[in-house]
Amino acid sequence: MSLVEIKDLHKSFGDNHVLRGIDFTVEQGEVVCVIGPSGSGKSTLLRCVNLLEQPQQGQVFVRGEDITDPDCHLDDARKHIGMVFQQFNLFPHLSVLQNCTVAQVTVLKRKPAEANEIARANLERVGLTEKVDAYPAQLSGGQMQRVAIARALSMDPALMLFDEPTSALDPELVGDVLTVMRKLALDGMTMLVVTHEMAFAREVADRVVFMDGGVIVEQGPPEEVIGNPQQERTKTFLRRVLDPTHVEPT
Ligand SMILES: Nc1ncnc2c1ncn2[C@@H]1O[C@H](COP(=O)(O)OP(=O)(O)OP(=O)(O)O)[C@@H](O)[C@H]1O
Ligand SMILES: [Mg+2]
Repeated sequence: MSLVEIKDLHKSFGDNHVLRGIDFTVEQGEVVCVIGPSGSGKSTLLRCVNLLEQPQQGQVFVRGEDITDPDCHLDDARKHIGMVFQQFNLFPHLSVLQNCTVAQVTVLKRKPAEANEIARANLERVGLTEKVDAYPAQLSGGQMQRVAIARALSMDPALMLFDEPTSALDPELVGDVLTVMRKLALDGMTMLVVTHEMAFAREVADRVVFMDGGVIVEQGPPEEVIGNPQQERTKTFLRRVLDPTHVEPT
């Protein structure tokens, strides 16, 4: 059974038909990177996987359970999915440690001592042992993003969703976050990552999915999709992102 299975997913905002029939799966332990132009529906797709957006048509199965079924216990399903956004969404009034414990206690009903222990272990995993008592305002963007990752990991997710986790960061801070993500992938975490970091996708992804205009245009191993794309739209996109100074002939 696939960890995530998406069948004929359609999502519109008003008359803007954003997702136009998406079919795809994520297997246990797989790292899938989603690439594509701005507005192609990448974030919307990710948000449908934990039902932050309600699709109009189609189904999303997580561990075999149809989370688009109105009878599904959404809170239970969501517990197993960690999400890391471009903006870190930390609680500004809570310390780093508290940011990583609050949902463990309220949602998973863990005892505070156990939650603290798990949070500290995950903060160590992302290299932030010294910052447990700091507040978000005292951290760099890269550190805040690593707290957001530790917070998500503290919920023992079966799946981690990342939506352009490095695109709000200063260039010199990107590497630390990608290093943490690379380590997670090596540890066997199942990850669905929207990213513009082609080098990362090439190195870490088991599969790359190229989206354009609300459909999957092409998918496969990174050496194929990034290294030797077959579709014209993929080639055009890659020329643009790999060489931003490139001007398309008119
Ligand atoms: N909550 C919303 N309400 C209305 N329209 C939305 C909403 N979210 C997304 N859209 C629209 O859906 C389309 C796809 O947006 P989406 O954010 O999924 O694209 P994306 O591929 O993630 O782009 P980017 O690379 O810029 O993040 C866009 O036209 C956008 O304006
Ligand atoms: Mg987006």
